[in-house]
Amino acid sequence: MRPALAALLCLLAACSTAEKAGSVASTPARAAPPSWEADNPVKPLPVAPLGVAGELADLVPQVTPEKVRLGRWLFYDPRLSADGKVSCASCHEPSAGFSEREPVSTGVAGKKGTRKAPPVLNAAFPIYPVWFWDGRAGSLGEQAKGPMENPVEMGMTHSDIEGTLRSIRGYGRYFTEAFGDDRIQIDRIAGAIAAYEATRMSGNSAYDRWDAGDPKALDEPQRRGFRLFFGKAGCNQCHLGANLTDSRFHNLGVGWRQPAPGANPASGFADPGRAKVTGKPADTGAFKTPTLRDVSRRAPYMHDGSVATLRDTILLYDRGGNANPWLSPDVKPLHLTSAEVDALVAFLGALDGEGFLDEAPKSFPR
Ligand code: HEC
Ligand code: HEC
Repeated sequence: MRPALAALLCLLAACSTAEKAGSVASTPARAAPPSWEADNPVKPLPVAPLGVAGELADLVPQVTPEKVRLGRWLFYDPRLSADGKVSCASCHEPSAGFSEREPVSTGVAGKKGTRKAPPVLNAAFPIYPVWFWDGRAGSLGEQAKGPMENPVEMGMTHSDIEGTLRSIRGYGRYFTEAFGDDRIQIDRIAGAIAAYEATRMSGNSAYDRWDAGDPKALDEPQRRGFRLFFGKAGCNQCHLGANLTDSRFHNLGVGWRQPAPGANPASGFADPGRAKVTGKPADTGAFKTPTLRDVSRRAPYMHDGSVATLRDTILLYDRGGNANPWLSPDVKPLHLTSAEVDALVAFLGALDGEGFLDEAPKSFPR
């Protein structure tokens, strides 16, 4: 894979030198690269930073530089939405760790959803491949098709999206580059976007450096927070592994409102969470544990954005969650001191990493 890529890059470089050397008349007609390639070139796959539990080159379906380039355009291209204004990046903002700084998402025509956009970081390396707050998608490629058809997100049908992209002549060559021919089809669209998402890796955080043996990477409050996180506070019961999530579903009571006497208790959750997918009453109000990587960049918190700050999330755990009939048995009052709460906040700040930032390409295929 790597040698083949190097050979390809050499070949491209050689071509362009030859082109410059040859006179206009003697060069066979080979159009100059379109202007929009300038700030979205084919680049070698990024190397996973410290703390990321895998390498892009090992992924199936294969992540290639050509798929990533195509996926990067598609991720930021608002023409994929019904009003031409919403792209994946509208809700998954790079500087917010590909999450957002709003309680819930706003999609086409200013329509509000009911859930917050989770971060898309290190998404290719989960413990279990379950996507969305309720785990209803089983792969990133499958996941990417959801928002396109969601009436309050991008508001298109899959055939609308295919039609839109087919009508933009410039896109065809990049489907050929990525998939071998210029057939524009929803699974390829989603596959290219998933390849781009896979490259959004965050690592080399203070915590990763400390974990790798640098004793100075964490300061004293952060070290105290670390001991609480993995000890007295028991956060690692659910926030574990390289992404600090078990990819499982738990009820913390977020979103719970005591229903009127005699009403169905489950109506206390406006959003039933995992129960909607499994049909099991026991999963009522349970949501997927989010990664805690770069968590400081995306307040407010939780599936409904109802918790304003990191300190407030820890106070929620400290009081043992919000009591409700389905509360996780792993959430109990913690009896933390104020200094311990601060230490946990400090430790969460040490999970801010690097390597994932990006910005929208300045121009798109036409
Ligand atoms: C209007 C806002 C909005 C747009 C546009 C949007 N998303 Fe999302 N995204 C969300 C919300 C909200 C969720 C959580 C939905 C849920 O759990 O039901 C989500 C969930 C996800 C997840 C799952 C993350 C996880 O940890 O489970 C991924 C991946 C994702 N979106 C990628 C994309 C891609 C790719 C696009 C473009 C094709 C896109 N999103 C467009 C708001 C948006
Ligand atoms: C029983 C499992 C469990 C335990 C224990 C747990 N968490 Fe969580 N955590 C979750 C789940 C599930 C969510 C999302 C809940 C929701 O949105 O309804 C979450 C959300 C969060 C968030 C918000 C992240 C975001 O992107 O919105 C933070 C911060 C957090 N937890 C930190 C902690 C800390 C610190 C501890 C220890 C004091 C802890 N968690 C203990 C399961 C757990």
